[in-house]
Amino acid sequence: MKTIQVNLGQRSYPIHVESGLLKEIPSILSIKNQGQKWVIIAQQGIIDRYGNALSDQLSEAGFDTLTIDIPTGEKAKSFDEYQIILSRMVEAGCDRSSIILALGGGVTGDLAGFAAATFMRGVDYFQIPTTLLAMVDSSIGGKTGINIAEGKNLIGVIHQPKAVLIDPEILHSLPKEEITSGLGEIIKYGAIRDKAFLTSISLWLDDINTFPFEKAIIRSCEIKAAIVSKDEREGDLRRILNFGHTIGHALEAYYGYGEMRHGDAVSYGMICGGWISNQLGYLSKHDYQNLKDIIQKLPLQSLNKFDPNQIISFIKNDKKIISGQLHFVILNGLGSAAITKNVAHDIILESLKEIQ
Ligand SMILES: NC(=O)c1ccc[n+]([C@@H]2O[C@H](COP(=O)([O-])OP(=O)(O)OC[C@H]3O[C@@H](n4cnc5c(N)ncnc54)[C@H](O)[C@@H]3O)[C@@H](O)[C@H]2O)c1
Ligand SMILES: [Zn+2]
Repeated sequence: MKTIQVNLGQRSYPIHVESGLLKEIPSILSIKNQGQKWVIIAQQGIIDRYGNALSDQLSEAGFDTLTIDIPTGEKAKSFDEYQIILSRMVEAGCDRSSIILALGGGVTGDLAGFAAATFMRGVDYFQIPTTLLAMVDSSIGGKTGINIAEGKNLIGVIHQPKAVLIDPEILHSLPKEEITSGLGEIIKYGAIRDKAFLTSISLWLDDINTFPFEKAIIRSCEIKAAIVSKDEREGDLRRILNFGHTIGHALEAYYGYGEMRHGDAVSYGMICGGWISNQLGYLSKHDYQNLKDIIQKLPLQSLNKFDPNQIISFIKNDKKIISGQLHFVILNGLGSAAITKNVAHDIILESLKEIQ
């Protein structure tokens, strides 16, 4: 088993990665079992596929388990669903010693993590990610939250899990489009932090059937863990993880969440971000072209015609605007990123031609 540490003093935790790890979860967690309630939060489809088996194994090992199902899709990250979880936990007799297991993709992790952060002022939780995107990104770093009508992820707290348990075998059941979405984030790690990794990803993408997911997950987790360890609360370092996200989030908002996959939107956003980096003199034309070629190896969902001015108006409402200033992530080489506050809306508008 490969273990990567997120170093945050008393809030430090391990990320365990191993094929077949799901079956090992009762033994990994047994040291924590003191008769408290263990609450598995998952979507029904994931409960059928993995949750029931996990719950049975935990029960056999002497755990007192409760499973709470949540709806599929971004709509689950709502006040209503959040409240249902808390009510069901109270009804089932949960208390401050109860522990939540977030079994699912980023939606489940964000919602279950937020419930864990706030139930009785905070209980422990474990992330058991089941999508590629959750394995390499959303399960690490402690960002939890829900959406409100005014925008995505506007309500939330940072609450670190006690561990992240990753079983790459689970990816066998994940639809291809969700794999592509996760691959977008994996490319991002290479682009912002590790040129050699980016080169490997490019080669691996030439034959997706032999793509070494476990290897790519481990390297991505190492990069995210190192960044979060140095900058938990999103100063300039953690912000580089948002490469491709300013335009990506705007595309997601424009097309509608659920219509446009997050990782696909980020991939398009990275093409624009790379182009802007070149225009501003940070990235060579050759490196930009190289990045674009790698991203275009992904079978991204195609972009329907969009209105560039509307994309800009979504960007004006982005969370990355702090005190009126847009913090934009640029590349100053492949494998190296920085934040600049000098990206005008005009150049963003022009960059959209690269993906139209
Ligand atoms: N907290 C963070 O740091 C962070 C970072 C990035 C994204 N996010 C959030 O993550 C969410 C997106 O996460 P996501 O892309 O994982 O989407 P998701 O959780 O909606 O999962 C995508 C789909 O895959 C299905 N699925 C999950 N695992 C499966 C499996 N093993 N087999 C078959 N089907 C499976 C789900 O039922 C769902 O329909 C967004 O809400 C985003 O805001 C959070
Ligand atoms: Zn992302």
